[in-house]
Amino acid sequence: MIVVLTGAGISQESGISTFRDSGGLWEQMRIEDVATPGVFRRNPDLVYEFYNARRRQLTDGSVRPNAAHKALALLEEKSREPVLVVTQNVDDLHERAGSRNLLHMHGELLKARCVSCGKVVPCLGDMSVFDACPACGPVPDAAKGKMGRMRPHVVWFEEMPLYMQEIERALAGCSTFVSIGTSGNVYPAAGFAAQARSAGADVVEINMEPSLNAHHFHAGHYGPATAMVPAWVDAYLAGKG
Ligand code: APR
Repeated sequence: MIVVLTGAGISQESGISTFRDSGGLWEQMRIEDVATPGVFRRNPDLVYEFYNARRRQLTDGSVRPNAAHKALALLEEKSREPVLVVTQNVDDLHERAGSRNLLHMHGELLKARCVSCGKVVPCLGDMSVFDACPACGPVPDAAKGKMGRMRPHVVWFEEMPLYMQEIERALAGCSTFVSIGTSGNVYPAAGFAAQARSAGADVVEINMEPSLNAHHFHAGHYGPATAMVPAWVDAYLAGKG
């Protein structure tokens, strides 16, 4: 199995801001001001607006999958080894490029989740405190307009990422691990390369520049993902098929 971990860098050339590059999302605001359960309880409108703005960018046609997303879909289609993409990204560019075997460990911008029953539903438009859960019904009158019944289906700080059991199993058994467009700042994803390497996998980094955990990789290919990922996929398919 080939496990591919992707981060914000793979979507940067599609026009989606990364988190920690200059001009990145977190440069404009502090993480504690948006992506935490506490802020959602205290100020749901701020959190809704942050994600509504990012969701509109995904659905207004201005953002499309780039050559790196498409190369990973080609790898999944042509490789003799099964391919699993584990993405930290909440955009849907891997799906739109054709990747199928895909886990969104930090959730998905185009889905919403009920804070009461946990039901996950598609969400293409703006969210607000007035959204009702299709299973639980509308927000109770007492809380109307004050608390959000539906939240973005996105993993916030202080929360556990999704699909960790499947990911650990894949890391334990993969022959190749490729990390693309991630700075190595946030665990558990930042620890995946060391886990795959200790399980005997060949571990490769593709990034604009060496990440914080570059020393865990056997090889690194540095430059824009739209050039480096297709080149790596072509070489892999030519060599290992
Ligand atoms: N091609 C390749 N790499 C790129 C490109 C590009 N065009 N543009 C940026 N990069 C690299 C940067 O050099 C950086 O190392 O992508 C990485 C992006 O790092 P971050 O902005 O930290 O994003 P990411 O690693 O995905 O963040 C992980 O942190 O805030 C949380 O939940 C959030 O999923 C996110 C997690």
